[in-house]
Amino acid sequence: MTNFVFSTTRTIINEPGSARRLASICEEQGARSVLLVTDPGIMQVGLLDEALPGFAKAGITLTLFKDVEADPADSTVQAAAAQARVAKADYVVGFGGGSSMDVAKLVALLAHPECKQPLSEMYGVGNVRGERLPLLQVPTTAGTGSEVTPISIVTTGETTKAGVVSPILQPDIALLDAELTTGLPAHVTAATGIDAMVHAIEAYTSAHKKNPVSDMLAKEGLRLLSSNLMTAVNEGHNLEARSNMLLGALYAGQAFANAPVAAVHALAYPLGGHFHIPHGLSNSLVLPYVMRFNAENADAAALYAELAPYIMGADTPEGSAESVSEALIVWLENRIKETGLPTRLQDANIPKDAIPLLASEAMLQTRLLVNNPREVTEADALAIYTAAY
Ligand SMILES: NC(=O)c1ccc[n+]([C@@H]2O[C@H](COP(=O)([O-])OP(=O)(O)OC[C@H]3O[C@@H](n4cnc5c(N)ncnc54)[C@H](O)[C@@H]3O)[C@@H](O)[C@H]2O)c1
Ligand SMILES: [Fe+2]
Repeated sequence: MTNFVFSTTRTIINEPGSARRLASICEEQGARSVLLVTDPGIMQVGLLDEALPGFAKAGITLTLFKDVEADPADSTVQAAAAQARVAKADYVVGFGGGSSMDVAKLVALLAHPECKQPLSEMYGVGNVRGERLPLLQVPTTAGTGSEVTPISIVTTGETTKAGVVSPILQPDIALLDAELTTGLPAHVTAATGIDAMVHAIEAYTSAHKKNPVSDMLAKEGLRLLSSNLMTAVNEGHNLEARSNMLLGALYAGQAFANAPVAAVHALAYPLGGHFHIPHGLSNSLVLPYVMRFNAENADAAALYAELAPYIMGADTPEGSAESVSEALIVWLENRIKETGLPTRLQDANIPKDAIPLLASEAMLQTRLLVNNPREVTEADALAIYTAAY
């Protein structure tokens, strides 16, 4: 028997078209003044057009913060929180990918009338004090799982990404509306889908908090994600594939919220920070190389072999844990190639002489590295980036 604690978002609404009812859902929750956090891309494709008129009808004051950028800066969080305070918001909605949802989480904290803690003191694990405003998240990518994680990732200063991790950030409601994701461009579908797969893979091999519930979610998440990824990339309007991707990303999010991610994310973050490589793509670029490094550890190889049937299905070969694990890595490399994403750091325009800097910055992600199934030194990180180049 394993002792464990498992937490997740208390309400999950999974229904295509449900975002049209966003205002009435907020009304049911007692909202009077809503701050909705989103990004210009979401506004431009009109994803909010049908949801917004309902707020006035419900007599709810709506304030839109629509300036979230990819890999949001701490200054963006502060600007959104300032707007929420001016509007005396009593309810926060995050509507978008991980970037918008992560900003919404911190706004819910910073705009709470009793909040006295500055953002700068919140970074790290378990450092948040106080309360937050109620928070509903509507993901429009099938990727980060931020709607079910107690994590917010912010770019601090010029290039560094830092996380705020606290149970207080766990959202109250996750609203999954797959119709919102049918127009997601193929390359964003691919990158965010791989990000979700990485969440499940890293949760399953997580060194300290892996548990039977996170394992079950990681496996089922990977089954949904790997069997629907290519359909979602090639036939964006296939609602069934989109629904399965959104649910798979949610399961993967629930898994890694409780069994945290590791070296793939640690090595991915410096790529985002320095070269503005989207989060999913930076994970995808280093995934096979981190897995190959980890698989030299027999325990990690055994865990990868356990995951293989959920990812590869009928393609899973017979054989030793080492050989099945290597077959899985090759399978993933082939899928990434098929999606059309760049597969090498050089194809993503990263200069080779940046590798030492990337390796030394990856070492700063101690929050993540401690979860890796094999210890990663700076020399290892250097070798992994070089292999990925
Ligand atoms: N909180 C967590 O647990 C967690 C986990 C992983 C990553 N992250 C963070 O999340 C961020 C990445 O989030 P993301 O990958 O979802 O991307 P994103 O939120 O940065 O969005 C990427 C782009 O896709 C567009 N877009 C989103 N949904 C769309 C749709 N349905 N149709 C058309 N365009 C759409 C957006 O306008 C944006 O231009 C990073 O900052 C990363 O660090 C957070
Ligand atoms: Fe991620």
